Amino acid sequence: MSDYAFFQNQFMPLSEAKIGVLTHALHYGTACFEGIRGNWDSKEKRFCVFRLQDHYERMLSGCRILRITLPYSIDKLCQLTGELVERSGYREDVYIRPLAYKSSEALGVRLHNLDNDFLIIVTTLPPYLDAENGVRSCVSSWRRVDDTMIPPRGKICGIYANSALAKTEACENGFDEAILLTQDGHVSEGSGENIFLVIGGKLITPPPSDNILMGITRDSVMTLARNELGIDTIERQVDRSELYVAEECFFTGTAANVAPILEIDHRPIGSGKIGRLTAKLQRLFAEVMVGRNAKYPEWYYLVSPKTVKV
Ligand SMILES: Cc1ncc(COP(=O)(O)O)c(C=O)c1O
Repeated sequence: MSDYAFFQNQFMPLSEAKIGVLTHALHYGTACFEGIRGNWDSKEKRFCVFRLQDHYERMLSGCRILRITLPYSIDKLCQLTGELVERSGYREDVYIRPLAYKSSEALGVRLHNLDNDFLIIVTTLPPYLDAENGVRSCVSSWRRVDDTMIPPRGKICGIYANSALAKTEACENGFDEAILLTQDGHVSEGSGENIFLVIGGKLITPPPSDNILMGITRDSVMTLARNELGIDTIERQVDRSELYVAEECFFTGTAANVAPILEIDHRPIGSGKIGRLTAKLQRLFAEVMVGRNAKYPEWYYLVSPKTVKV
């Protein structure tokens, strides 16, 4: 059982996957990545990889923006991922990190005349935010990058310097997570999560045009709210002060799952406890994430390990 990589077209232990110091993506952030959960079902003895195809579709959109071409179809990328998870030998929840990057060992800021490569890592990931007890958040002094700067609809590595500035500022000021506003002051998202509010019983989330990453958990939660609870989500611009008057608020993301926000900028959200709708959506998502809802077969990529040894 070990962290494993698919690197330069081969499977290998992560400790053997090494990259040259001049690699373009390392210097200029010219890469895009995904974070995917593979949940281990100990009863069925299989991994349920959540919305794998959707993650690769999003990665390939990022590749189009960065002019990265890969020699793999989505089916092939899914198959490689399944094989990597099998080879790792893990029999617990795993976190999968694909990365498509400008691999030339060359200096010079550009996207053209560079080689591309692709790797996948499989590892484990402890809970990223305390979704069970809820989190304390703050509005960041950093603003979210705009589509005119680095398009946030691509999960582009360079953008994460913006997220890292906001996250560290929040943590060093005693909060768990930052909320970034757009340049014109509307709520965009967390440093690594989308955000939802409940106001007047309505579920509200910022629209794609407010520079959010089009989250797969966001889409799953919206689908569950509609199908399972009969609640449509309103995608609209959100003012900062609406965060303070919301009845409920929560983050969504692959790392964070559905994480209730109990406090923003020292103001309790609603009663300061996990809200009713948030708790319902948390439960529904937790069930769906591990493959226990037969209504969404297209969301599951199942990997049943044989006893493969490398
Ligand atoms: C900036 C940002 N927003 C939102 C999300 C949530 O997206 P997803 O639910 O697809 O993980 C992530 C995580 O990938 C992220 O990094």
